[in-house]
Amino acid sequence: MPKSITADELKQRMDSDEGAVILDVRASGAYDEWRIQGAKVQSVNIQNSKLQQYGVKHFTQIPKEREVVTVCAKGIAAQEAAQMLAAEGYQAVFLEGGMGAWSEFYEPVRVVESEKLTIYQMMRLAKGCLSYFVVSGDAAIVIDAGRHIDRYINFAKRKGLRIQYVFDTHLHADHISGGVELAKAVGADYFIAPPEAEGATFSYTPLEDGMSISFGDSTVKVISLRTPGHTLASTCFLVDDQYLLSGDTLFVSGLGRSDLKGRAREMAQKMFETVRTTIAHLPDDLMVLPGHYSDFREINQNGFVGETLRDIRAENPMLHMTDESQFVEMAVGNVGVTPPNHETIIAINRGQLTPSPVEESELEIGPNRCAVKH
Ligand SMILES: [Fe+2]
Repeated sequence: MPKSITADELKQRMDSDEGAVILDVRASGAYDEWRIQGAKVQSVNIQNSKLQQYGVKHFTQIPKEREVVTVCAKGIAAQEAAQMLAAEGYQAVFLEGGMGAWSEFYEPVRVVESEKLTIYQMMRLAKGCLSYFVVSGDAAIVIDAGRHIDRYINFAKRKGLRIQYVFDTHLHADHISGGVELAKAVGADYFIAPPEAEGATFSYTPLEDGMSISFGDSTVKVISLRTPGHTLASTCFLVDDQYLLSGDTLFVSGLGRSDLKGRAREMAQKMFETVRTTIAHLPDDLMVLPGHYSDFREINQNGFVGETLRDIRAENPMLHMTDESQFVEMAVGNVGVTPPNHETIIAINRGQLTPSPVEESELEIGPNRCAVKH
């Protein structure tokens, strides 16, 4: 029986000096669409059936001198592959639970820590989904929580934090939100902008434009900024005048797509307006902390996803466009593949559907696809 490693252990290897060698034994289509990536990951894709057919030695791209982590969808084929490798004298372990387990792995990374304000970015690496703990004293606001709410509850416990408020920047279409459930579980208020919650079955506190929310050390200000475009009432949060938690409005390398809830052109026009007004008025020095990333290269040298607005402005021509129709054409034309199951996920996030945990995992398979690339 070959040895296995957990998603957590795999991440530690990926971060080590040697990095990790991954042999992904899924079909090439699944691999091309979604795989484990990282700056120090060497990845090879050979299907299990090919390993069986030709024998592992046939594939010279599998290194013999390094330990290989085999990966599949659920951890079964990868176990067989690790067995085959071990029988031929290779060093091999398999990832327990496969991509399913990887998809559910969250890693908290500290963005800033000062006496009055600490921000942690909760990175859900497999999906490129980012959520946040904004901490002041022993109080915390959680923003854009994923559906694995125990990750947030346990983290708060470990750090001695009381989750006071839970926010969603918008009604998500690419992943199942844990916001409502997390708020219920910890007895916190849940906030979302009312137009986002249209048709929703849960109760919430309305997030109004320009609202200033104080919590913990009352000198930390969190201001809600209405930034329509990705969705009708997407919201960004300006934290302590220094950090912009930008949801799916503004990414390190793009803007939020406008087409996920229909009315793509109308929403792209709203995004243009948001870019020309709200975003244009924000200072260069703001650190932008988005709701997603689409490429591991967006992770900066400090280990989190975030750039100054100055750097983002320098890279993204869409932030400088003055012609609305040109902007709309670009926004509507560059959206790429629609996230799978987005209509079902929206219905779940409205509380209209309650799938089983297994169905939830299946619905969330694959990366996020929330950005328009510039
Ligand atoms: Fe989104």
